[in-house]
Amino acid sequence: MQIALIGIGKIANYQMQAITHTPGIKLTDAHDLDPNKADELPGNVNFHDNLEKMLLKSKADAFLVSTPTNTHFEVAMRVIESDRIAIVEKPLCTSPSEMDTLLTAARTRKLPLYTAFHPAYGREIDWWREQREARNFDLGAFLSFDTCFADPYYIDGKLAFGAVGKAGAWTDSGASGLSALSRLIDPSTMQLVDGRMTVIPSLSCSQVQGLGIYSFVEQEVTGFGLVDTNWTLGKNYKTTRLRYEKGLVELDHAKELATLSLDGEESLVFNLATDKPRLVNHYCGVFSDLTALFSKGEDNTELSEILHRLLFAALSH
Ligand SMILES: NC(=O)c1ccc[n+]([C@@H]2O[C@H](COP(=O)([O-])OP(=O)(O)OC[C@H]3O[C@@H](n4cnc5c(N)ncnc54)[C@H](O)[C@@H]3O)[C@@H](O)[C@H]2O)c1
Repeated sequence: MQIALIGIGKIANYQMQAITHTPGIKLTDAHDLDPNKADELPGNVNFHDNLEKMLLKSKADAFLVSTPTNTHFEVAMRVIESDRIAIVEKPLCTSPSEMDTLLTAARTRKLPLYTAFHPAYGREIDWWREQREARNFDLGAFLSFDTCFADPYYIDGKLAFGAVGKAGAWTDSGASGLSALSRLIDPSTMQLVDGRMTVIPSLSCSQVQGLGIYSFVEQEVTGFGLVDTNWTLGKNYKTTRLRYEKGLVELDHAKELATLSLDGEESLVFNLATDKPRLVNHYCGVFSDLTALFSKGEDNTELSEILHRLLFAALSH
């Protein structure tokens, strides 16, 4: 599979590293509004200073939109309207109406549409999925979860540099938390119970903190959990706790660690980090999933639609 990149910023750097580590995918072309970004590309990648020209000329199978969140809709629509396949960084867009327009445009043209949910591919998440499947630990019934995705983007009353290009704590990190959970809980059973957003009117972002409370159904029993996103804690803290009848599993998404605590026993800690940065590990998962889906003519639109509806429901609650 050959892909082209739109937006050569911070995340593109990790994406390019992951592409070199993933068999079956190659970066051929790239575009950024800033022509100086061409210097950040490997020598064998063609830089285009104009998106329309790249969409016309490039032989890439799909175009990865890695521009700031509030431009995803416009850029992805240009890709789709050129009859080309779009892969869009999470969140796909920032409102239900934008999502409906994108989905309709892609479906009308019978084009796959893929959302890159990198946090879903944390090694600690893969690890717990493997343990569950192999039934290595007996924790009993699954009861509840809490997920926190916090970034230090609100410091001394101002937005920090890291917030540039992001829509808000909930819009950006809510999509991360929900996508991580979607590999642990069936998201089609989840429903919003309550959404609480903190807005500071003087800041140019929609939310500095956002909380979504959800119900879910597991083995015909309804459980509850919360997704907390927060830019005000002053730290990079990304954790999911899964509570079971007989213990607790804590997945540290920032440190790639898993801690398993069976009631009455000492906790077991599993370090799942590798020699690669966490985000490279995540994008290796994104690209291997993408190439597998692409080879079957499939996409992850159904999942993306479910997760974004859960995300937007909390915003409008
Ligand atoms: N930074 C992270 O840790 C991170 C992690 C995961 C996902 N993301 C997502 O990736 C996206 C990009 O984030 P980033 O941190 O790399 O941003 P960034 O600001 O570092 O880079 C964005 C790049 O896009 C270019 N650009 C802006 N508008 C454009 C347009 N219309 N057409 C072409 N190029 C354009 C800019 O010149 C810049 O080079 C965001 O949606 C963000 O939520 C970021």
